[in-house]
Order: sequence, then structure tokens, then C-alpha cells
Amino acid sequence: MVRCVSMAINHYLFNMERKRIIIAIDGFSSTGKSTMAKALARRIGYAYIDTGAMYRAVTLYCLENGLVNDDGTIKEEELVARLGDIKITFGVDAATGQSQTYLNGRCVECEIRDMRVSAVVSQVAKIPAVRRALVAQQQAMGREKGIVMDGRDIGTVVFPEAEMKVYVTASAETRARRRYDELVAKGDTAVTYEEVLHNVTERDRIDTTRAESPLRKADDAYTLDNSHMTIEEQDRWLMDLYDQITRG
Ligand code: DC
Repeated sequence: MVRCVSMAINHYLFNMERKRIIIAIDGFSSTGKSTMAKALARRIGYAYIDTGAMYRAVTLYCLENGLVNDDGTIKEEELVARLGDIKITFGVDAATGQSQTYLNGRCVECEIRDMRVSAVVSQVAKIPAVRRALVAQQQAMGREKGIVMDGRDIGTVVFPEAEMKVYVTASAETRARRRYDELVAKGDTAVTYEEVLHNVTERDRIDTTRAESPLRKADDAYTLDNSHMTIEEQDRWLMDLYDQITRG
């Protein structure tokens, strides 16, 4: 309690003479953008929204409700008809302070990171009606500003007017290695590095070539290639950029 109050006071003092802005962090999968976006949000007292988690939650709903065909394609019409039944919300785990994703009131933070979700999420994310529904929710979340949002189309479609835009990139091999290490650390012993690399490159291909809101760098985004950066270095890079933009 005392810690929460003192953190709130620190954030208030820190941000007192700064303008509240929208921070859009886009980039390829497994670039560590969620980790850095979360750290920045915590440090400056902003809300954090992981939009990839929203597409993953819709995908989990599809898997659990028979909306995925055997070949991995989605029963699109049925999904679109059921979009109104899918409620995605975020909460904070009281013990860890980490953001958690809820699907119709159930915490699905772990399940949405599974390979079975990763394997079909790009198919769900390319459906125009799904994107329209999720983008509208994301725009509503950012109405008051003071938000860090990460995804693929935040700086280009969701908040083209965001004051700070970052485009994160790293080699496919570096990203696959990071993702593989994460899965192994979670206890997934069945997965191989080659499988993860294939999933990463395949998702890159679909995310950058789909007709609806493909992943691309906004003209006014700053590029961060973190292939050879430590977490501390990238956190400092982001913080310096935030300082420069909000003090300027
Ligand atoms: O960031 P991630 O790997 O958790 O994202 C999961 C998938 O969702 C990814 O394949 C691309 C898609 N996505 C998207 O199309 N638009 C976003 N704003 C966020 C994610």
C-alpha cells in the first residue's frame, strides 16, 4: 500500500511538467517489444496494452469453439457472427504487478502464448472484421492518452497521430532463439528451434503481406534494431526518446 502510494507520487512528480502522449510500439514478432513497452509504461506511470494479446485471445476463442478448420484456416463467417460474444479485458496480477489478458472473464495470459495459438493467430489477424472490432476497442482505450500500446499497426492505423512511434526489428534467427528459450523456460520440451524459426518467418510473411493493415514502419517512426542490444540498453534508448519528445 505504502509502496503503491509512493510510486503514484513519483509518477506524478516525474510527469508533472510533461505532456501526456500516446506511445506506439510496432514491430515483428518476438522482438521483445512487449517487454520494453511494459517496462517503459511502468516507469512513466502509463497504461500498457498488448494488442497482440487481443488477437491471440480471439484465436484461443476460435480454437475452443471449433472455428478452426483442419488446415488451420478460420471459419470466418461464423467467427464474424460471434464477435459480439468475445469480450477481451486486461487486469493486473496483484502479486506480480504484471498485466493479464482475460477472455470473457477468464484469465488466459498463459494459454494465449502457446504454439497452438501462435500457429493460427496470423489467420485470425488478417480478417478485416476482426481488425475493425479490435482497432475500435484500442482507440477507445487511448482516448485519454497516457498509454503505451504495442502491436503491428499502432503507429499506422490505430493511432496515426501518436506523438512517439517506435518500430522494433531484429533478425529472424535472434527472435526465434529468444522465443524458443522462452518456451523451454515455460517447460515446453516438445518444441524445436527449427519449428519456432519457421513459425516466426511465416508470421513475418503473413503480417507484412496481408491486405488489411500490413506491418510497416510509419514514416515518422524511430527504428530500433535490438539484435545486439541488452534489455538495459533498449530500455535506456526508449526512455531517452520519451524524454526528448515530452520535454521538447
Ligand atoms: O505480438 P504477437 O506475436 O503477440 O502478435 C500475435 C499476432 O497478432 C501476430 O502474428 C500479428 C498479430 N497482430 C496484428 O496483426 N496486429 C496487432 N496490432 C498486433 C498483433
